[in-house]
Amino acid sequence: MLYCGFISTLWKGTVSVLRRRLAVLASGRGSNFKAIAASCRRDDFPAEVVCLVTDNAKAGAISVAEEYGIPCEYVDAGSRRGRLQDGAEEEIVRRLREYEVEFVFLAGFMRILRTELLSAFPGRILNVHPSLLPSFKGLHAQQQAFDYGVRVAGCSVHFVDDSVDGGPIILQEAVPVEDADSCESLAERILAAEHRIVPRAIELLASDQLRVEGRRVLGTDD
Ligand code: GAR
Repeated sequence: MLYCGFISTLWKGTVSVLRRRLAVLASGRGSNFKAIAASCRRDDFPAEVVCLVTDNAKAGAISVAEEYGIPCEYVDAGSRRGRLQDGAEEEIVRRLREYEVEFVFLAGFMRILRTELLSAFPGRILNVHPSLLPSFKGLHAQQQAFDYGVRVAGCSVHFVDDSVDGGPIILQEAVPVEDADSCESLAERILAAEHRIVPRAIELLASDQLRVEGRRVLGTDD
């Protein structure tokens, strides 16, 4: 047993040295960012959040960054809803490079990426979306699912490509819709599921367990 303990200490020590450098982009309240930051405090977690980038100077995510001692970068992305103004994406890439970022997680970043980020981090940008993709892409996905009357809603973490919410899916969690649900109560349970699959997807990516074959992402089995 003593021997095992020694090995596990050594192993943990090695993993903490090999933490991959992750940036989180967030526009809003930051609960997924918080779930990521909390997971990164685990000794055996293979990633660390090296910076938060936000396009919203009033984002709740900024307080989360303060709470966890994570540097925060604000980038003015312009006033066009859902879009990045010219130069904004180049500016984000420039700042991410300063932090020597390897992976990027979009945790409620409400702007569509254009080419600069995608080409700077090919296959290394992940997004969480509050629906079982490919259903209910775009804004207000929980409301779309609720209004449609689905019996099973959920959330997805996927690779980001040049489509909107259309890249290869890494993890999904189903959330059954109950008779007594309002859209708000359903969205709350979907969010709790997001907080489970988001850190797990990062863990899989950062420990090089994922393989993309066409649209399929392999290596996610427990
Ligand atoms: C989350 O529900 C996330 O899935 C969604 O924004 C919310 C952010 O919440 N993202 C999208 O809809 C992207 N298409 P949070 O700020 O508390 O993490």
